[in-house]
Amino acid sequence: MSIEYVESTRMWILNTKKTSYVMGLNQLQQLQHIYWGARLPYSSDYMITEAGSFGSQECTTDIINLEYPAWGGMIYSEPCLKVTFADKVRDLVLAYDSYAITNQDIPELTIRLRDPYNGLVVDLHYKAFEELDVVERYVEIINTGSDPVDLEQAQSAVWSIPGNHEYRLTHLAGKWLGETQVKQSVLTEGKKVLESRRGTTSNHANPWFAIDRGQASEYAGDVWFGALSWSGNWKITAEVTPFYAVRVTGGVNDFDFTYQLQPGESFSTPVFTGGFTTDGFGQASRNMHRYQLERLLPREHAGELRKVLYNSWEATLFNVTEKDQIKLAEKAALLGVELFVVDDGWFGQRSNDEAGLGDWYVNKEKFPHGLQPLISRCNELGMEFGLWVEPEMVNPDSDLYRQHPDWVMHFPNRPRTESRTQLVLNLGREDVREYIYGFLHDLLQNHNIRFIKWDMNRPFSEPGWPNAPTGRDKEIWVRYVEGLYLILDRLKAEHSSVEIETCASGGGRVDNGILSRTDQAWTSDNTNAYERLFIQEGYSYAYCAKTMVAWVTDSGNPTLPLTYRFHSAMMGTLGIGSNLHHWSDEQLATATTMIQLYKDIRHIVQHGSLYRLSSPRKKHQTAVQYVTADLKESVVFVLSTNQAPFLMSPPLQLSGLDPNQLYQLEGFDVCRSGKSLMAQGIQVAMNGFFQSKIIRIIAV
Ligand code: GLA
Repeated sequence: MSIEYVESTRMWILNTKKTSYVMGLNQLQQLQHIYWGARLPYSSDYMITEAGSFGSQECTTDIINLEYPAWGGMIYSEPCLKVTFADKVRDLVLAYDSYAITNQDIPELTIRLRDPYNGLVVDLHYKAFEELDVVERYVEIINTGSDPVDLEQAQSAVWSIPGNHEYRLTHLAGKWLGETQVKQSVLTEGKKVLESRRGTTSNHANPWFAIDRGQASEYAGDVWFGALSWSGNWKITAEVTPFYAVRVTGGVNDFDFTYQLQPGESFSTPVFTGGFTTDGFGQASRNMHRYQLERLLPREHAGELRKVLYNSWEATLFNVTEKDQIKLAEKAALLGVELFVVDDGWFGQRSNDEAGLGDWYVNKEKFPHGLQPLISRCNELGMEFGLWVEPEMVNPDSDLYRQHPDWVMHFPNRPRTESRTQLVLNLGREDVREYIYGFLHDLLQNHNIRFIKWDMNRPFSEPGWPNAPTGRDKEIWVRYVEGLYLILDRLKAEHSSVEIETCASGGGRVDNGILSRTDQAWTSDNTNAYERLFIQEGYSYAYCAKTMVAWVTDSGNPTLPLTYRFHSAMMGTLGIGSNLHHWSDEQLATATTMIQLYKDIRHIVQHGSLYRLSSPRKKHQTAVQYVTADLKESVVFVLSTNQAPFLMSPPLQLSGLDPNQLYQLEGFDVCRSGKSLMAQGIQVAMNGFFQSKIIRIIAV
């Protein structure tokens, strides 16, 4: 059993294959965190740290780690929960109440804490995924009293890192066209806050973290890591207290946050998934990838391989017409494309980004006979059809906005800041949700559309909700995301054959919350194959390759060889975004060969284990290897960057193979053991700028 309660020591022990997570009751009846790290053999291994005596300036919570600290009494570090009661009391005491363990597919522990004065109940939920070495946590806060309670901070969890060391934080930062860049900094006393206040996950920071002792590599070293399942304002705080306790607290951002609980109401926080490994950042990523592949991604399509897609955006921008799209589709089908996606421009009065969002009828001038002729042609050509939508948005120049100016988030008598000439609909409102669900349902019901790219191209501003029930207007930050999830869940339930791609001006909404409802993600609007190596490397720290959509394009790539662009894009889910009419016969032939190769190896890329052999940040060569679960097949991508042509690269040591298995390497004469390939490596001759190779490895 992977969760047990030890009566004699009053401790709960959650074991996964290689890790333990332990908490217990201290003498003050507080739930105290005890340990999170490598699995220890005996239940007697765990000790509770008793707080010593202090000067009047010190408080115990700087030393001992509470499992879910509430703000009240002497607490000065980051709390998980802060409330105001109806009688204006802002002090909260969380005492242990009871626990329950349920043992289904995945064992779950619930520990109930209760404020003895007011009756506010907090249920801490834990799921231990034994095989995946991760733990899911979330909290449900229940108002059992007779007056309303305002939540002012309600975090999903705090992760306490053991020991007294210098720790390093690894996180993903960036911006539009440059998402998920790997950043590292040593933690010192105080707080480092990673967050989004933009309403979406954001292109700028991603709700994922890793902590190590400053020496972990790809292959070795203790790494604690976690990712939040939330697609709105989020916050992750890495804190070192004056007594060197190291904690990572995370959840919905408390910035501009108040959530009212009427008697009987409850609030569930997003899930925060965490894990630990002794095997470095590579294993931390692989554990998260497995969790996503085996548990998180929508089950309907999780086992299927993602299709090679063509997307019209960079080829035709807003100028999509039936005639031109059919011509592109015919060319795409010849290359081996499996899914043809029409991007922005097909609807309303949409000839540029200044009009049309909100009016989701097919533009009659561009598609005089509706979408059907194009869809039928795609199907005849053996391709599925997909469509771009941006349901959460409205242009002021649209029929929808003229009819419902109050549907956008705004403050009365204040400006409504436009970005890309658009405003954000308030998905907290039921009428707005019904409208969005309604048009999407009709589109999917009446056409053979098997894929939608769901875009969201601007962050929130003036997040007002004039008609919200009294005291609930700030809940817009949360209710918007809940509204989005409701629509997606309903669509997935009613149209389960449809795959959804999440997009927000590139990778602005990629997180475990959206990935539990969408099948893949648009990684970045930056499609330069070289710059993508950095974006994709960071992406791979937190998210699996199967969800990482990458297109081969011409934009921003004037000098990079076409094979290099393909190799870069084949490291995730492959797409093509170029104007195929501009490709020469030779380029079309190269593309056909590359797409066939991708189809041959994509089961390894999309479902295999990923090893980052060489980082673009450190070497003049990027190398990523994928290995199937049975260790019989592998593929290595090697892409040189600005390596000087006369330099020989040192041998590339492979990973993840069966040491005693003999493997055949494509392009090499002799077969070698996995052990040799991992110990001695392979010599990849690549003497030049922006060269690339794919090496296939098959067990013999
Ligand atoms: C965003 C997306 C692009 C494209 C455009 C269309 O920028 O990231 O891929 O869909 O919108 O307007």
